[in-house]
Amino acid sequence: MMKGVILAGGLGTRLYPLTYATNKHLLPVYDKPMIFYPMETLVRAGIEEILIVTSGPHVGHFLRVLKNGKELGVKHLEYAYQEKPDGGIADALALAEDFADEKPITVILGDNTTDADITGAVKRFVDGAMVFLKEVSDPERFGVPVFDGKDPKKIVEIEEKPKESKSKYAVTGLYLYDNKVFDYIKKSKPSARGELEITDINNWYVRAGTMRWVELKGFWSDAGTFQSLFLASEYWAKKSRG
Ligand code: G1P
Repeated sequence: MMKGVILAGGLGTRLYPLTYATNKHLLPVYDKPMIFYPMETLVRAGIEEILIVTSGPHVGHFLRVLKNGKELGVKHLEYAYQEKPDGGIADALALAEDFADEKPITVILGDNTTDADITGAVKRFVDGAMVFLKEVSDPERFGVPVFDGKDPKKIVEIEEKPKESKSKYAVTGLYLYDNKVFDYIKKSKPSARGELEITDINNWYVRAGTMRWVELKGFWSDAGTFQSLFLASEYWAKKSRG
């Protein structure tokens, strides 16, 4: 069974002053710490071994909340510490190389909440990479796929937070990668904002012709801004009331 990696670092500056006191991924989304949602997404997909990569001043808080992960159905939980909290998502993922043990991995960002079931995609995955797309009203806030003019199913590039998006889809923070991901990270250079971007890694796969995608079914939202944190909480509160 595939292993899972949750990227839960960063300083959460977009949520200051909330993130002065704790890590963004431990803030509440309705009635649970944010990171419970991506953990439950992985566990639901049958993933039993999880690595959490985290950084910043509040890393110790994760142990107090998650302990060894048993309460959430995780069989084996590991933690890794990213030295540079502003190094970027791909810099955090680099720390998962030993954990991955040369096999494919499922990666999810710690601020992504979804009720989608990715079990089928995880089970069928063999090699290359897969991204999960979701139609949104504000794609400029995300990585956005550009589709081939002749073959509308084919992604020719992913643009990170473009001024004008070329499609209505967001690349969600949920990815399947084979072991080449670690070579691509080593070949990548920091972006203008000084981060190793996950979008650059995805574009290596796009150029190699090994990137596939599916549309994510169900609710999906990140929770890294006040607006999205509020919307995510509202969704899960309504869902729990049935
Ligand atoms: C990150 C990625 C972006 C992706 C988003 C999904 O953005 O860089 O490509 O669409 O997560 O949540 P961030 O929220 O870190 O700015």
